[in-house]
Order: sequence, then C-alpha cells, then structure tokens
Amino acid sequence: MSEKVWDPFVRVFHWTVAVLFFVAYATEDELMTVHVWAGYVVGALVAARILWGLVGTRHARFTDFIYRPSTVLAYLRDLLLFRARRYVGHSPAGGAMVVVLLIGLIVVVGTGVVLYGVHDGAGPLASWYGYGGRAFRRLMEGLHELSANIVMALVVAHVAGVLLASLVHRENLTWSMVTGRKRSGE
Ligand code: HEM
Ligand code: HEM
Repeated sequence: MSEKVWDPFVRVFHWTVAVLFFVAYATEDELMTVHVWAGYVVGALVAARILWGLVGTRHARFTDFIYRPSTVLAYLRDLLLFRARRYVGHSPAGGAMVVVLLIGLIVVVGTGVVLYGVHDGAGPLASWYGYGGRAFRRLMEGLHELSANIVMALVVAHVAGVLLASLVHRENLTWSMVTGRKRSGE
C-alpha cells in the first residue's frame, strides 16, 4: 500500500529550486542575467513554500515536521545506528533541514538583491546604488558568497541524509519526491 505524501506544488518547488540553485551557483559576471533571474525565481518559490507551509496539504505543513531539538538529535543518533523510526512525512532531521535550507536561501537571495543594488545599480534596489560605500559593498559581497557556500554545504549534508535514510528504511526517498508517493505505515 502506498499513499500520496508530497503534493504537486512541493514536488515542482523542490526540483525547480534544486536546479536553479545550482544554475545560480555556477553563473556570475558575464552570465549575470541568468544568475539574477535564477535567484529571483528561487526567492519567489521559497516565499510561496512558506505560505504553503501554513495552509498547504498535510505533510507540507510546518506543524507536521517541526520537532523539538532533542527529538531531532535523538533521530540523528538512531539513524547513524540504523535503528531510526520511519516517518511517512519528513523525519525530525529532514524537517529541521527544510527549515535551515529555507532560511539559508532567504539570506542568499536577500544579500544578492542588496548587492545588486549597491554594486550594480540594478534590480529592485537599484536606487541604493553606492549606498554605504565600499565597506558596505564588501560586507554584502562577503555575506552573499559565504551564505551561498553554507547552503551548498547544507545541500551536500541534505543529500547524504536522504541517501542514508533511504538505506536504513529500504526505500527510495528521491523517487518519492518525483512521484509524490510513499509506502504506508511505520
Ligand atoms: C540534487 C539532489 C537532491 C536530492 C536527491 C534531494 C532529495 C530530496 C528528498 C528525497 C526530499 C524529501 C526528504 C524527506 O523524505 O523527508 C527533499 C526535500 C527537500 N529538499 Fe532536496 N534534494 C536535492 C537537492 C536539493 C537542493 C539543491 C535544495 C535547495 C537548495 C533542496 C532543498 C530541499 C527542501 C527545501 C526540501 C523540503 C521539501 C518540502 O517539504 O517542500 N534539495 N529533497
Ligand atoms: C540561489 C540564489 C543565489 C546563489 C546560490 C548565488 C550565489 C552566488 C555566488 C556563489 C557568487 C560568487 C561570489 C564570489 O565568488 O564573489 C555570487 C555573486 C553575485 N550574486 Fe549571487 N547568488 C544567488 C542569488 C542572487 C540574486 C537574487 C542576486 C541579485 C538580484 C545576486 C547577485 C549577485 C551579485 C551582484 C554577485 C557579484 C558578482 C560579481 O561581481 O562577481 N545573486 N552569487
């Protein structure tokens, strides 16, 4: 028996953000238009995902996958010992990763928009051109680059966690993010 777990919005959101994150990460300077538009779409999708986390389908809601930190740590310990309980929606660690990734993406896109304004005089904050001088521009450059690299490191951990949980529970979580379906039960 299998059941519908990830609704179409969650799946389209996931794979679009995943692809565009890598596109934005890999483009700069001469491909700035591609970089900026990939980033805007990621930003808009993250905003929509936050709303969907409040009003969306059962397993898409934040209340379905936000657990106390002690539960997250206990789940991670059990996962490494290959004895973690199976969840049909996000596991406690998976849910914590969702929150951290969404916050990380907001910081990356936010600092990108500010940088684009003060540095290039372009984008929605074009009128901020030159604001804060060189020091502020350098700070935004540093934060944008650092946050992008932190999110990239989180993505590596995210994919490793997905593969480990798939192994422990003998299921293909990645394919479930394509079809939306998972095996029912514990
Ligand atoms: C390319 C390799 C990737 C694979 C195989 C992958 C796989 C998955 C899977 C299986 C889930 C569901 C986890 C669960 O069952 O609890 C998930 C969720 C998620 N992933 Fe990925 N992912 C990838 C890349 C990314 C990237 C690059 C990002 C963002 C920068 C990302 C962000 C997320 C988010 C935010 C969720 C939560 C989905 C939701 O509830 O809306 N993933 N991913
Ligand atoms: C998922 C979203 C994004 C990712 C992963 C990302 C990542 C990056 C990375 C890795 C760099 C290179 C940093 C360096 O080595 O100096 C960069 C540069 C930059 N990004 Fe983004 N970025 C994103 C979104 C945005 C957005 C939305 C904007 C503006 C609207 C933006 C504007 C810029 C600017 C102006 C630079 C400096 C380019 C240069 O002069 O070299 N980014 N970004």
